[in-house]
Amino acid sequence: MIRGHGGNIYALAAALGCPTDAITDMSSNVNPFGPPPGLVAHLQDHMTRIQALPEVDAHGAVALFAERFGIPEDQILAGNGTTPLIYSLPRALETRLALIVGPTYADYRDGCRQNGVDSACWLTRKEDDFKPDLVAIEDVLQPCDTVYICNPNNPTGCLVEGEALRRLSRKFPDKTFVVDESYLPFVPEPDECSLMAERPANVLVLHSMSKIFRIPGLRIGYMVGDPGLVDRMRHYALPWSVNSLAMEAVRFLLRPDEGIDRFVEATRSRLTEEKTYMTRRLAAIPGIRLYPSVTGFFLIQLPRPHRSEDICREMARNKILVRDCANFKGLSDRFIRISLQDREINQRCAELLESLLAT
Ligand SMILES: Cc1ncc(COP(=O)(O)O)c(C=O)c1O
Repeated sequence: MIRGHGGNIYALAAALGCPTDAITDMSSNVNPFGPPPGLVAHLQDHMTRIQALPEVDAHGAVALFAERFGIPEDQILAGNGTTPLIYSLPRALETRLALIVGPTYADYRDGCRQNGVDSACWLTRKEDDFKPDLVAIEDVLQPCDTVYICNPNNPTGCLVEGEALRRLSRKFPDKTFVVDESYLPFVPEPDECSLMAERPANVLVLHSMSKIFRIPGLRIGYMVGDPGLVDRMRHYALPWSVNSLAMEAVRFLLRPDEGIDRFVEATRSRLTEEKTYMTRRLAAIPGIRLYPSVTGFFLIQLPRPHRSEDICREMARNKILVRDCANFKGLSDRFIRISLQDREINQRCAELLESLLAT
């Protein structure tokens, strides 16, 4: 999917006739406090790396992920972000029918569509705060051979316990479960929910470095899975998919350094504070509904008769970009998603939203 993601600061800047850095982007789910200290300086010091081709198979990055996570190299594939991995999965897995637990990130469905693969969407309900009922999912996944679960989920911010996902995947060993953990580093105690370390053979885990480290422009993602499944994916990998600067970033971010761990910890606690602040501010608006989220973004249902398109347009006119969720299957033009920033920006966003919803 080329259009329909958040983060299009370029189109808004062009429409408003201003530079992109004049736009406050609350539509893209990256860490507002990143990148981690020292990363940009490290990249500047290694700029000359762009004069040579990167490794054709990103082996250096795979080796660093393997060492850091204690996982054999043949269980890891690195990519130019998780996006190309998502788009080659249906082909590599020879999926016939996919089940997607939604409302969720649209690229799973688009990845299927681009490969001529049918997909069905199993939708969680707003009455349940969009929390998936894994028992109910068991009843519908029989005809499918691949199941997509985003954990925590974008855009609902819901988290399913790792053990519950493990149980579900073990119960259906003939199906492949693709679990996207791109937002898991934002959750306190992420290892408890991750399937990476203790992973059933039919589970593929996706991870993105774009989000927690705020480096979406560098494009680094990886997949962890059974060697057989990873090998099938490797057939569809493109040469040089982790570029030279991205490789330097992996080297910097994965080296043993308490500074990076402290940065991630500090991100979590600052986001918790900001979430409490925004929830308190926005919950006071009559008719609004905020859905509980374990991440740095959260889903908002607008009070009637407000529509997401109008609210997003007015916020954009004020140079604040928030995500219109009308194009998520299972949501409607009454939903927007906001990615938390620092206090000053959150306050500005809350004031604007309050005034727009009061009219
Ligand atoms: C759930 C989820 N997975 C994967 C991606 C793709 O991220 P990237 O290709 O930058 O790793 C996104 C981007 O928004 C996302 O929300």
